Amino acid sequence: MNTNIARRNFLERLGAVLGYAGLAPLELRGQSRSQRKAAAKGAPDPKKTDYDKLVKLANNENPYGPSEAVMEAMNGAWKYANRYGYPDGGIVEAIAAHHRVEPENVLLGCGSSEILKIVDDAFLPDHKLVVGVDPTYETVYRYVTNSKAKAITIPLTEDYDADIKAIIRTTKLNARDVGFVYICNPNNPTGKIVPKNDIKLLLDSIPEEIPVFIDEAYHHFVDDPRYEPSVKYVHEGRKVIIARTFSKIAGLAGMRLGYAVAPPEIIDLLRPLVLSYNTNAIVKYGAAAALKDTAYETKLKQLNKQVRDKTLNELKTMGFELIPSQSNFFMVNVKRDVAQVGEEFLKKGFLVGRKFPPMDEWLRVSVGTEDEMNRFMKAFKEIVPTPKKI
Ligand SMILES: Cc1ncc(COP(=O)(O)O)c(C=O)c1O
Repeated sequence: MNTNIARRNFLERLGAVLGYAGLAPLELRGQSRSQRKAAAKGAPDPKKTDYDKLVKLANNENPYGPSEAVMEAMNGAWKYANRYGYPDGGIVEAIAAHHRVEPENVLLGCGSSEILKIVDDAFLPDHKLVVGVDPTYETVYRYVTNSKAKAITIPLTEDYDADIKAIIRTTKLNARDVGFVYICNPNNPTGKIVPKNDIKLLLDSIPEEIPVFIDEAYHHFVDDPRYEPSVKYVHEGRKVIIARTFSKIAGLAGMRLGYAVAPPEIIDLLRPLVLSYNTNAIVKYGAAAALKDTAYETKLKQLNKQVRDKTLNELKTMGFELIPSQSNFFMVNVKRDVAQVGEEFLKKGFLVGRKFPPMDEWLRVSVGTEDEMNRFMKAFKEIVPTPKKI
């Protein structure tokens, strides 16, 4: 028993050492380069394709666009297009009220991407470590490679879940050097959640001075009762940073607004790192209207679930291996290199998800409208051979 524990500890220590001494960062650098290539391959050549005609199932966007109320609010804000010091539509207060926190708990970003970037800038000076799973939304790891900090990435479990116990062990083993732990919940690309018990276990198990950064870009789509948003830990004053975005369910990806919710002392650290005038007048008014338009949010959530589950059922009946998703995208095992499959989809006018190593044969598909998904299924049947029934 003791020998087993000692052996396990040794292997973990070795894994962790390899992780941060070279393997993971190299792998990540390679990964981001190859992903950039894959993304470039997957990206339509603007001279050859008409973007407006493509079925866009690659970036987990809202295929319906923002609500009427949001468009109306944005249209009303054009009068501030020439100003810096315009009234901002009360967006910070609206976000604070939405989460029952104070305005000093909130920081706006140019999308949540800016929040991801500045959390790295603040907490990962040279040679610090970020701990998280792989694959996930790797932007946080990519920003890491811009500084000399490094990422220790923990593979998903056999069921494609975050291995919280391994994250805890690795964080504790490297506690002195860990800048923060990154959790994407639900995880992109798998669409799986980290259950509330696991989040609690993580927060209760690692040293309390290590921040936990929880990216909740897709939280609006979840209906699994084992999930809960983590803002409650900010209420408790824990060192937790939540990232949210108006790019997904609110349908404002092209308008760029995200935010962080965190204890005031963390927001004070982050605030000097954002770009001056990082957000625009139009989106602030749109976002304030989106927070109020809960009917639209509910409708979109239902629509997404209905179209997603219909597509998943059809793929399941055909015999494909799937990852059950709690988000507005899902993964299907196409048993072929996803980069090639993506090119074939592009030829037929579809943008589908990029490759997420090491899940090279798993295609990530964003949930489009019902009509788009019917067309997707038709193309899918032409491109991907149906698995043989055993
Ligand atoms: C998990 C996750 N976080 C953050 C982002 C960044 O989104 P944005 O900068 O548009 O808020 C994305 C975008 O797809 C994402 O998938």
